[in-house]
Amino acid sequence: MSKVAANDLSVFRPGLLNGQVALITGGGTGIGLGISELLAELGAHVVIASRRPANHEAAVEAIRARGHAASSVALDVRDQAAVQSVVQNVATTHGRIDLLVNNAAGNFYAPSATLSPNAWKAVVEIDLYGTFYCSQAVHSVMKAQGGGRIVSTSMTLHYRGWPLMAHATAAKAGVDALTRTLAVEWAPDRIRVNAIAPGPIPTEGVRKAFAPPADSGAPDLFAAAEEKMAEYARTGIPLGRWGTPRDIANMVAFLASPAGDWITGAIFVVDGGEWLAKAPS
Ligand code: HXC
Repeated sequence: MSKVAANDLSVFRPGLLNGQVALITGGGTGIGLGISELLAELGAHVVIASRRPANHEAAVEAIRARGHAASSVALDVRDQAAVQSVVQNVATTHGRIDLLVNNAAGNFYAPSATLSPNAWKAVVEIDLYGTFYCSQAVHSVMKAQGGGRIVSTSMTLHYRGWPLMAHATAAKAGVDALTRTLAVEWAPDRIRVNAIAPGPIPTEGVRKAFAPPADSGAPDLFAAAEEKMAEYARTGIPLGRWGTPRDIANMVAFLASPAGDWITGAIFVVDGGEWLAKAPS
């Protein structure tokens, strides 16, 4: 195994994204925060759009404290009118939007047989509708400025089927389809549309997806299985470790850079080889 923790070092040239404006949904926590931090480090002005001000305000403060440019706005990506308004405001304030990262997601494990209509709707609306609403809203801005890039967060769990995740797997399969369709449809407008399918990255969001409802009295399997999970990372993930937000952020930065000029409609699996090796459980 390599002794260099390349994951923690930026391989990108300082100032690579100078002058770019990047809108990142769910960019205040977890993978989204890792993306916001790296894009800002590389010179982009990042606008974090997320539901909870406590999350995005803290993220903006931390990014600014390191001397980088960031701002934030409250947004629920399920609200199409709000999405339109936020995108127009960002475009007016900054004069452009170079990159949209559709990172906002909501998932939890629940049996399909008893999933309520509202539970199904909550996840599909965040993961799939939200991705479409945000992509559609930036289209006219990006077309008018001569191009832009959209990167959406997918997953690998729908490649084989994943018990207790009917809502999320259906939504992310839709995100994959949307990525390919928009890539072809909007290529004449020079808008590159790609997706990243992260492997397991133990952020607080994933912990929440595993956690039982607060009043259920059921054990928190994620916390209870901490040791087994460490063993799984060593043996079940071919590259021998969990992913980190920076692993995903690196791919976003690559796609936002000139290296991504001829890439559209691609779905990049960034998972240490996990889905190829793993049987569904
Ligand atoms: C069953 C649940 C549930 C659970 C919520 N619901 N959590 N059902 N099991 N654990 C049901 C509720 O009962 C309700 O249905 C409906 O879903 C809406 O719930 P609300 O809490 O009212 O909705 P809302 O406040 O909008 O919350 C959205 C959410 C929530 C998706 C439900 O979990 C959320 O906001 N999560 C954001 C953070 C997150 O999940 N990140 C995960 C990212 S990690 P009823 O019928 O009662 O009204 C990731 C990778 C996961 O994406 C991969 C794992 C390997």
